[in-house]
Amino acid sequence: MNRRNGTAAEDDRVLKARHRAMWALGDYPALAREIIPTLGATLVRSCEVEAGDRVLDVATGSGNAAVPAALAGGEVVACDLTPELLDAGREQAARHNVKIEWRVADAEALPFAEGEFDVVMSCVGVMFAPHHRAAADELVRVCRPGGTIGLLNWTPEGFVGQMFAAMQPYLAPPPPGVRPPPLWGDEEHVRSLLGGLVQDLTMRRDIARVDLFDTPEAFRDYFKSHYGPTIAAYRGIADQPERVAALDRDLAELARRHDRDGVWEWEYLLVIARR
Ligand SMILES: C[S@@+](CC[C@H](N)C(=O)[O-])C[C@H]1O[C@@H](n2cnc3c(N)ncnc32)[C@H](O)[C@@H]1O
Repeated sequence: MNRRNGTAAEDDRVLKARHRAMWALGDYPALAREIIPTLGATLVRSCEVEAGDRVLDVATGSGNAAVPAALAGGEVVACDLTPELLDAGREQAARHNVKIEWRVADAEALPFAEGEFDVVMSCVGVMFAPHHRAAADELVRVCRPGGTIGLLNWTPEGFVGQMFAAMQPYLAPPPPGVRPPPLWGDEEHVRSLLGGLVQDLTMRRDIARVDLFDTPEAFRDYFKSHYGPTIAAYRGIADQPERVAALDRDLAELARRHDRDGVWEWEYLLVIARR
């Protein structure tokens, strides 16, 4: 390895360690259970997982999609950067009495052979790997020819995409080459990543309805205590009370704009492709 490659690899290691620590903050497993429990099953249905399929759930978190895939009869491998979330996934699998293989893995360098899986899927997961080209190439590589690649991604214009836009001014600029996660919810961007590598690329937007919060402030405070990226944004400005107050206002205002009598509609893009 030459010196330049060595430095890039070290920078990537540091970046991934930061991401891993960020996703372990708060209580993501509770959030997945309380706010988006149906999305994993939606993705599994859309991928048409059948008994005996070998399924890889990339950036599985606590198994939001892996568990329904196993309940559908798939032989599931669930991988994620963050070991703490896999521990929660193991408990979830035990509660549902399903067997899943759990692996710590970076979506940009999957420890699996070419064409190992019938279905490769990710529910609001792989979109958070910072280098989109590398992650897309890996999804395709480990899927067998004729197999299915299924992704469910928050859109840039939808509520979660707008939440990331609202937090962005309060974050340190990302390292060069790192792309914003909600781009994975943009049809053109997905086509540019997967279009030349797959057949039958279909995409449609849909809505997750969230009614857990009585007020915009309740939404904000829940995310401040449960969601790693939001907790990390606040930690970065903790010594600047005016900026903390401004982010408080911005997140509540965002939630107020999207509040429809206590229901929030969170838009996502469902992507299904055949390798
Ligand atoms: C919003 S959570 C989604 C988790 C799960 N798929 C779900 O539906 O609840 C994003 C996940 O991406 C994982 N992640 C972030 N960067 C990753 C990377 N480079 N490789 C693998 N997983 C990654 C995080 O650890 C986290 O579990």
